[in-house]
Amino acid sequence: MENLESLARESVEAVNQAADADSLERLRVLYLGKKGLVTEQLKLISTLDPEKRRSFGQAVNALKQELTETIRSRGENLAGQAIEARLEAERIDVTLPGRHATSGSWHPISRTIARMEDIFASLGFDSAEGPEIEDDFYNFEALNIPADHPARAMHDTFYVDDKSVLRTHTSPVQVRYMLEHKPPLQVIAPGRVYRCDSDMTHTPMFHQVEGLAVGEGITFGHLRGVLSYFLREFFETDLKVKFRPSYFPFTEPSAEVDISCVFCGGPGCRVCKHTGWIEILGCGMVHPEVFRHVGVDYEKYTGYAFGMGVERLTLLRYGVDDLRLFFDNDVSFLAQFQ
Ligand code: DAH
Repeated sequence: MENLESLARESVEAVNQAADADSLERLRVLYLGKKGLVTEQLKLISTLDPEKRRSFGQAVNALKQELTETIRSRGENLAGQAIEARLEAERIDVTLPGRHATSGSWHPISRTIARMEDIFASLGFDSAEGPEIEDDFYNFEALNIPADHPARAMHDTFYVDDKSVLRTHTSPVQVRYMLEHKPPLQVIAPGRVYRCDSDMTHTPMFHQVEGLAVGEGITFGHLRGVLSYFLREFFETDLKVKFRPSYFPFTEPSAEVDISCVFCGGPGCRVCKHTGWIEILGCGMVHPEVFRHVGVDYEKYTGYAFGMGVERLTLLRYGVDDLRLFFDNDVSFLAQFQ
């Protein structure tokens, strides 16, 4: 009986101190398993004298019951603690700021080109491309700029070899397009162009959009109408458009187009150098010499052409003041055009 009492004390205490489910299971086997310490006591009952058997039997069975109950409740306890610990460890703080998902955006130059294509497409203009490494013939010769022509000096050309250049403008696409398409035709040609020039307002690579329309009875009036419409659509204001006589070898007559300043609207500011006007593009009626090079009948057809700088249009539209920002690939700058 004494043995039994100390076994009871020791086993109950051990169970209550079991640190986890595994040690609890080891204790259950130790006391209540087939060869467990309490089980051994149960086996003793039948060996005792009948007068001792009754009270000992009751005591062992009571111990067995108590220990079973203690193990069960300790088990419940430990399971509860495990859940608590797991909930604590996996806690989600719904008040933390969310993770930021960044999305890309179009480069402002690409956006401007897409916008220009949309506006001209609405007027029935096709869109075409040409090579950036261009034959001297398409870049100069066919555009009425022969080898000894002073206009070549205006172009600061990068030569690739004797016959080819990095195109200095998108005008050669006019020539290529007319060799492949018969009039009537209307096309714009956006793309990269290259000039050996670099400062605040010039980068060695920049973008132009060329325009060309050829058909019967096309006049300077059509050119004025189309360009005025385009510029007002592009800047989304009712700006003034002024045609100033100018010179380009591939057009005659030629003009440069100014718009009323999109920043100050006329009185003068830093952007328009206090003139109220901003020079925006070159244009004119296609020179017969250009038609002759591509085999268009210049007795029958007339046409107009124009060319403009995409960076300049983008600067003016978004109010950016340094051209080089467009080519620095600085994400914090570019992300503003989302
Ligand atoms: N190619 C000219 C340049 O790069 C721009 C230009 C002017 C294009 C007049 C034209 C035009 O088609 O008619 O400066």
